[in-house]
Amino acid sequence: MRIFSGIQPTGRKHLGNYIGAIRQYVEGQDRGDAIYCIVDLHAITVAYDPAELRDRLYDTTAILLAAGLDPQRCILFRQADVKEHTELAWLLANVTAYGDLTRMHQFKEKSAEQREFVSAGLFQYPVLQAADVLAYRTDEVPVGEDQKQHIEVMRGIAERFNARFGETFVVPSHRIPEVGARIMDLQSPERKMSTTGATELGTVFVLDEPDRVVKKFKSAVTDSGTEIVRRPDKPGISNLIEILAVVRDTTPDAVEKEYADAGGYAGFKEDVGRAVADYLAPVRERFAELRPNEAGLERILATGAEKARAISSETVTLARRRMGVGPPDG
Ligand code: AMP
Ligand code: TRP
Repeated sequence: MRIFSGIQPTGRKHLGNYIGAIRQYVEGQDRGDAIYCIVDLHAITVAYDPAELRDRLYDTTAILLAAGLDPQRCILFRQADVKEHTELAWLLANVTAYGDLTRMHQFKEKSAEQREFVSAGLFQYPVLQAADVLAYRTDEVPVGEDQKQHIEVMRGIAERFNARFGETFVVPSHRIPEVGARIMDLQSPERKMSTTGATELGTVFVLDEPDRVVKKFKSAVTDSGTEIVRRPDKPGISNLIEILAVVRDTTPDAVEKEYADAGGYAGFKEDVGRAVADYLAPVRERFAELRPNEAGLERILATGAEKARAISSETVTLARRRMGVGPPDG
């Protein structure tokens, strides 16, 4: 089974990214033929600084390796190193419905955040994402809940292409975790944890120092009750229950049982904070060892890109041929 996912090299990676996506990437290495891409071409669709983009690219690479991605057991590469992605994105744009793109939540949110300029690249973002996945004949795409709509669109693109030009692409499925698919901001638990537009205190970063992690959880916004249960009117507590279940590798039900007689939130919040701090500490330590060696990171990415190109170039050649563009034997 082929597994593929992409992650943006923007901002600082947070607990939502880790629980919703990165954790699944690591586990994917044992379940199938896993390919992970750091999507720098997606990162340039909004305002950014070129030098900072490179730094963040190394940060993201080092975080993924620190989390447990093993270049011997998966392919890890940088999107812009494999030109097949951009070429396929253009081909696929012509089997993408304009109307579908106008309905994308992520486009609406991100375009509203841009003060001066909304790029056509941001609008086309889901087409490039479809190219990322379809180029590898991917079966399964591990992502957080917020990417569901993008996966739906790429399924439609693959189906339309196959119907119009003949069977070429595998129609991929999303893999969204049952618990932790949507980690919420600790300060405004009705909003998802995110790199943009959130408060520093509400966002737990993978590289936060342990004390800082504990402090953020102690300050988490909860309701005025005392019961530790998941309920729609308790978004803050529900979020903390899910987080603790994931980092302790147990279920939300078991967490609720354990804290049934807690009689208040203070001890619970502190426990969640310490559990998350312990969970992230080894990642932070390995990151510190890996991050300074940029030449080493480049070597890993270059090896990954070579392997990725070997796979994607076959699919893109086939797509070109089917569409009748370029020379007949090209
Ligand atoms: P990004 O950093 O935007 O490239 O996101 C990388 C991955 O993290 C994607 O699969 C997202 O669905 C996932 N993700 C982002 N925010 C959250 C969140 N708050 N909870 C769970 N997963 C998330
Ligand atoms: N759009 C995804 C995000 O914001 C990142 C991404 C790019 C991706 N290409 C992908 C995710 C391919 C899964 C598969 O998180």
